[in-house]
Amino acid sequence: MSYGSDQHAVTFLGGPSGTWSVERVASVVGETLPPIERLEIVPGHVAGAWSLRGVTSHARYVDRSEKTRLDAVSPALDRPEATRAALIPIRKSARWWSLPQDERRAIFEERSRHITDSLPALPRVARRLYHSRDLGEPFDFLTWFEYAPEHAESFEALVDLLRSREEWAYVEREVDIRLSRFRQTA
Ligand code: HEM
Repeated sequence: MSYGSDQHAVTFLGGPSGTWSVERVASVVGETLPPIERLEIVPGHVAGAWSLRGVTSHARYVDRSEKTRLDAVSPALDRPEATRAALIPIRKSARWWSLPQDERRAIFEERSRHITDSLPALPRVARRLYHSRDLGEPFDFLTWFEYAPEHAESFEALVDLLRSREEWAYVEREVDIRLSRFRQTA
């Protein structure tokens, strides 16, 4: 399948080799995923024993002022100092998906303050959101974050905060995968 120029498809491939060493794979809610040693993010959609597919897409909820603020402080992926990463696949409930757009936005931002309370984590955390729901994948979203080890604690605090909010009442499956950049010893 091919996508427009503003979208790109990736596969998170677990296995014995890859750029990222997997520190842990833990269920937050619902069924976990099998443990893996390493992870690679490859372009396109490929099959694999452990594989999750997603595609970047347009923003659903961000308004103009939020976009301006996000664009001003969002760092690029792949910074050399960002040696830690989190891959957090998430599936939301049928109840969430049955809500109209304005009600989802109200829960996401006006009541859960997802953007407002996450913005201070930038530019320390680089992020990318992949959508999986329309691909028939087991998760709706594959969320990916990169940060330096000294910012691991504040990232943890943010994750805890988001999980405590109303938005997360609609999360029915979530797996928390933490990684660090694999370093070859000479
Ligand atoms: C690091 C700071 C973060 C920022 C700045 C941020 C920002 C955003 C923004 C702007 C969106 C909306 C995209 C759209 O309009 O479609 C979004 C969606 C989302 N974020 Fe975050 N986020 C952050 C951290 C997190 C974390 C830590 C998690 C998971 C634990 C997370 C999970 C999600 C999910 C699942 C969505 C999709 C929600 C939906 O469409 O229903 N985010 N985030």
